[in-house]
Amino acid sequence: MTDAAEVSPGEFPPGQEPYQPARFAFDAESEDEIAVHLAKYPPGRQASAVIPLLYVVQTQMKRTTGSAWVPRAGMEAVAARLAMPPIRVFEVATFYLMFNLRPIGKWHLQLCTTTPCWLRGSDAVVAACREATGIEGWGETSADGMFTMTEVECVGACVNAPILQVNDDFYEDMDADRTRKLLAALRDGTPPPAGSMAGRQTSAPEGGPMTLTTLAFAPGEQADAG
Ligand code: FES
Repeated sequence: MTDAAEVSPGEFPPGQEPYQPARFAFDAESEDEIAVHLAKYPPGRQASAVIPLLYVVQTQMKRTTGSAWVPRAGMEAVAARLAMPPIRVFEVATFYLMFNLRPIGKWHLQLCTTTPCWLRGSDAVVAACREATGIEGWGETSADGMFTMTEVECVGACVNAPILQVNDDFYEDMDADRTRKLLAALRDGTPPPAGSMAGRQTSAPEGGPMTLTTLAFAPGEQADAG
């Protein structure tokens, strides 16, 4: 894999970047996934599956190369499969931040810095990631190819802010020390279970649930409900 940090955006014409593979073909596992997605839509409406199929491309790239991204040849394969003009697939792939258009590291660190996460300490999480990876700018990949850092807007988990998304998993209630420990575990190939790093039960208050702590009914309540 070409190190994405070696190539500057705009340095080469679109589609001719040196890291772009010449061809992309769906493998058997992807074909099984594609069949499931296409079956959701009536005949003639298969173009509605463009987002899932782009994700199939990205997942196959992760499985086969170790880097989750969508090459130009993958977009063209999706366009051919869905009988869409390639430009329409390019438009979708370049609109959504979740599709990586260049090779990325093994672990994609997606740091939420929107207001709730910022108020809860995302600056410290960002600093810890920079310190542990040596990455200075957003979108860059570490020299060892292990990490890519991306700044993201709210990922919808503010209740357990700040959030560090790693590949497809959310690590919540982060701080500098927890971030350092998480990145060390990722480097060792032993990621901990996703969720709250403070041990909180889902999004319950710290210290444990404070409401609905028993399923016991008040006298007569069950009979009335029936
Ligand atoms: S602001 Fe970070 S998850 Fe909402």
